[in-house]
Amino acid sequence: MILRDRVALVTGAGSGIGRAGAELMAREGAHVVILDRDASAGSDAAASIRDAGHRAEAHAVDVTDDAAVEKVVSAIAARHGRIDILHNHAGAQVPGDLESVDVAGFDRSWSLNVRAHFMAARFVMPVMRAAGRGVILNTSSSSGVLYDREMISYTTTKHAVIAMTRQMAGDYARFGIRVNALCPGWVDTPFNAPFIGQMGGRGAIEAYMRDKVPLGRWGTVDEIAECILFLVSDRSSYVTGQILVADGGETIA
Ligand SMILES: NC(=O)c1ccc[n+]([C@@H]2O[C@H](COP(=O)([O-])OP(=O)(O)OC[C@H]3O[C@@H](n4cnc5c(N)ncnc54)[C@H](O)[C@@H]3O)[C@@H](O)[C@H]2O)c1
Repeated sequence: MILRDRVALVTGAGSGIGRAGAELMAREGAHVVILDRDASAGSDAAASIRDAGHRAEAHAVDVTDDAAVEKVVSAIAARHGRIDILHNHAGAQVPGDLESVDVAGFDRSWSLNVRAHFMAARFVMPVMRAAGRGVILNTSSSSGVLYDREMISYTTTKHAVIAMTRQMAGDYARFGIRVNALCPGWVDTPFNAPFIGQMGGRGAIEAYMRDKVPLGRWGTVDEIAECILFLVSDRSSYVTGQILVADGGETIA
């Protein structure tokens, strides 16, 4: 087991990609701490990990609430004496171009997609620095490297995640801490429900994928979980400040 006894915090792990990543980390021996604002989704994910014989706990936390995140980080550090992995995953999509995007929505998405990653990393960093090791993985998106039509809020924040990842990686490599970014493409989770509606249903989005994505299909959460495991484990021990784009080839098409 490649993560035996490591302590991993994963935000937004009550569903989708975050949950699949948390499940795989737990299967690989980590004690997983789920931070999700949806209390029942978080506790359901943790219970299913424990039912499978692995270790997990859930905390109902909105990660844009600095004080709540700091409290959980302090409690975990005090109880376990370590935090080896932080996967900043929770994020939101707010549609619209420069003139149509809801300005309050732009601020909310900045607060969740960028600032919450920043704050969680800031709270965890002293624990990792003291240990002389640690891994942070920030979820960006293929929209962090692409133009995405009428999605100014999403692309701006997801590009910012990559810049922030590189800054953290450069500043903290000397402490033995690696920081990378994950850029998924189309992955079939509830996250895309509003966009599917906007596109005119699943048939329309799947036709779009056959046309625009070289592999011609959705990615699965398990495929992305394998990328997560690579980036948070020692399998990527010489990788820092990088992005891993898992998008079926969309960004090269
Ligand atoms: N699914 C995709 O196609 C896709 C593609 C690229 C990037 N992403 C990124 O992945 C992340 C989420 O995607 P998913 O597919 O796993 O979504 P999902 O909707 O399946 O799960 C998101 C989880 O995050 C939680 N969450 C949302 N806001 C939160 C907050 N403020 N505090 C704590 N928890 C919160 C939700 O309760 C939910 O459990 C986002 O950062 C998104 O940008 C997804």
